[in-house]
Amino acid sequence: MEDFAMSNSDRQIGLTLTQHIRFEQTNHRMATGKLSGLLNEILVAAKIISQEVNTAGLKAELLLGMTGTVNVHGEDRQKLDEYSNNTFIHILERSGYLAVMGSEENDSPIPIPETYKSGKYVLLMDPLDGSSNIDVGVSIGTIFSIYERVSQSGAGTLKDLLQPGHRQIAAGYILYGSSTIFVYTTRGGDVHGFTLDPHTGEFLLSHPNIVIPKKGTIYSINEGNSNSWSRGQRKYINYLKASDQNTGRPYKSRYVGSFVSDFHRTLLKGGIFMYPSDQKSPNGKLRLGYECNPMAFIVEKAGGKANNGSRRILDIIPTTLHERTPLYIGSPEDVEMAEKYLAEDAKNR
Ligand code: AHG
Ligand code: MN
Ligand code: MN
Repeated sequence: MEDFAMSNSDRQIGLTLTQHIRFEQTNHRMATGKLSGLLNEILVAAKIISQEVNTAGLKAELLLGMTGTVNVHGEDRQKLDEYSNNTFIHILERSGYLAVMGSEENDSPIPIPETYKSGKYVLLMDPLDGSSNIDVGVSIGTIFSIYERVSQSGAGTLKDLLQPGHRQIAAGYILYGSSTIFVYTTRGGDVHGFTLDPHTGEFLLSHPNIVIPKKGTIYSINEGNSNSWSRGQRKYINYLKASDQNTGRPYKSRYVGSFVSDFHRTLLKGGIFMYPSDQKSPNGKLRLGYECNPMAFIVEKAGGKANNGSRRILDIIPTTLHERTPLYIGSPEDVEMAEKYLAEDAKNR
């Protein structure tokens, strides 16, 4: 009887996220086990939020609609924003792995209560991304970013949360869509995706070693803002819309309005997502700390690029917790082409 030789990839599929995190650790990529522990706490919060997102329509009173409060950005805070934020904070503050947290939903840094041990890491998060899509059943997500603290001891500080993105230790997102997918990478690792199996409650490896295509044929931008775009931005979009078989043009346009969804599609299929600077929002809309940096870390690990139109996102030194940045992210050849159009425009001004 021929022996049953399992290929390496056969061995991988079905691996749980918890096992994968442990294997990454045994490869000395996360030697202490503390990062493994933190990632495992995040996946627990993700499962809880996934369950609530998927049944929010049945608990509309509790989980849908507005809370009646606004966040630091002046945006209406949705009930599911608040629920997700509280879930992450309550689980992570007692984990013992964090010295301080930053969240889109909290104006200032979130201290770790004295009753809990302070840890060596700090975490930035967008607990629920794509809030405008919550009530209409369109996919939404969570984004997180992990650094080692820079302050020596005691309570973590704002300075711990204002590090450039290239210092990230790990980053990831959870997409609550047709299925719940957990994608993460670590400083020494590749990009891997796990799909939640509702029957076992386990995240199982479904997208090992994600690599973004060098070039795509999809562009993603809110065309509703086109009257406020720069001339270079308009020229680039017109270039993508022109017909040329050799370069796969015209590109398809896809825009979900949840960054996590638009990014996940770009990561798997290639192309480019843009939230540019425009007359209305000179710094774009997306926040550097908990939207752009984690996704830039992931896309570079997958072979892609992320810049603000001219500068690498991961090199930007943040000055405030909620600062915004223009964003061009995706396949390297597409991001480079966008940069070329913007640079030409800047030269001709
Ligand atoms: P959040 O819900 O966390 O505030 O993020 C919303 C962001 C992002 O998810 C999305 O790409 C962008 O807002 C969409 O903005 P527009 O509606 O202006 O296109
Ligand atoms: Mn967001
Ligand atoms: Mn959000």
